[in-house]
Amino acid sequence: MIDIDKIRRSADIIGESEEIHEMMALIGQVANTDISVLITGESGAGKEVVAKAIHKNSRRKFEKMITVNCAAIPSGIIESELFGHKKGSFTGASEARAGYFEAAHKGTMFLDEIGELPLETQAKLLRVIEQGEFMKVGDTNIMKTDVRIIAATNRILSEEVKKSNFRQDLYFRLKTINIHVPPLREHINDMYLFIERFALLFTAKNDIPFKGFSSEALTVMKRYAWPGNVRELKNAVESLLVMNRGERITDEMVTNQLKLDTYQTNPNLPVFVDADADKVERELILKQLLFLRQDVNEIKQLMVGGRGVSVEAVQPSNPALFLPPATTTANIPDSLAQVEDGTLHAIQDDVIGEITMSELEQEMIERALEKFRGNRRKTARALDISERTLYRKINDYGIQKKFKDS
Ligand SMILES: Nc1ncnc2c1ncn2[C@@H]1O[C@H](COP(=O)(O)OP(=O)(O)OP(=O)(O)O)[C@@H](O)[C@H]1O
Ligand SMILES: [Mg+2]
Repeated sequence: MIDIDKIRRSADIIGESEEIHEMMALIGQVANTDISVLITGESGAGKEVVAKAIHKNSRRKFEKMITVNCAAIPSGIIESELFGHKKGSFTGASEARAGYFEAAHKGTMFLDEIGELPLETQAKLLRVIEQGEFMKVGDTNIMKTDVRIIAATNRILSEEVKKSNFRQDLYFRLKTINIHVPPLREHINDMYLFIERFALLFTAKNDIPFKGFSSEALTVMKRYAWPGNVRELKNAVESLLVMNRGERITDEMVTNQLKLDTYQTNPNLPVFVDADADKVERELILKQLLFLRQDVNEIKQLMVGGRGVSVEAVQPSNPALFLPPATTTANIPDSLAQVEDGTLHAIQDDVIGEITMSELEQEMIERALEKFRGNRRKTARALDISERTLYRKINDYGIQKKFKDS
């Protein structure tokens, strides 16, 4: 039995689409073997995320996973980096050095951008995969290593083989287990989950109030081709939140942001026509409403029953408000059904009619002021009202005597 949720948690994988489910199922099938895996997919699609998930679900999970970016190491020194070298084996080799394969013994070696590995080094890598053997540069002793190889590339390796840039034997060896990471545009309905996670993490970390994205903004984002995939989406979300601090993100902001980033270099963007698009958008908005309603209920509960909901929970930057507990994959229709059958109502029946909205509001403000030691800016922010409104209400309710402004 493959435990998809365990795989998801192991590497914080986001995505509920069939494509991502299939990918996780495949990770589950191969993770616990020692077989080499080739991960393919466009830049920014999530290849490294998959490599981590494989390692963390393998029996090597308590050992190291060493990541080597083959494109970043000059070809002249790559063999000494990978296999190590003997003292005096070349000018400058004043000391013997262990390579990554030695360091990764018993663990996993993630060779990123394997398409960039020089041909001679490819032959040596094949020997490691097939026999678990290598030689240090300048040495004739055979070293043994027990390393599981995961390789990744955004090149089409079969094309590279045709062009004699990649060894066919290594290609055949690697491609037996190929996990393909789909580009974001092929599982675009996952975009909402990505946006939600990235936005909540970023705003919480940087203490920025999060007011959400308008549905028009989401539509623009959904139509975009995302050539840089999830990485580009993450960067775009973070830039939008910084550039429009504390505001609700509109389609205009998105258009400007994406224009700056890539529209200019990518004029022929495909438009994705998707029968489910409207449905998903509607669900997202409903979900936001649901969470809003939960917040209101929590606030009411705080005042009526005082059942351990802290005032912090009403700060817009608190992720707990926007995500259902311990998951990002809320089943929206279910949650709505829950509201309908009344299980989310926080106010006990016996106080209804005994307490008024203005009493609730007054108490909420007093407690928030108490919590923030009279700091009105923080209090206003936590209650998601303007400072001006807060001042007015403090006067109206005659609260000001109790709290000196700070
Ligand atoms: N399914 C996913 N769930 C959560 N985060 C993801 C997912 N896919 C990608 N990401 C995030 O997107 C960013 C890019 O992912 P990653 O580095 O794995 O891409 P890549 O395919 O290795 O890109 P490159 O080819 O440029 O190296 C990272 O911040 C990663 O955490
Ligand atoms: Mg990568």
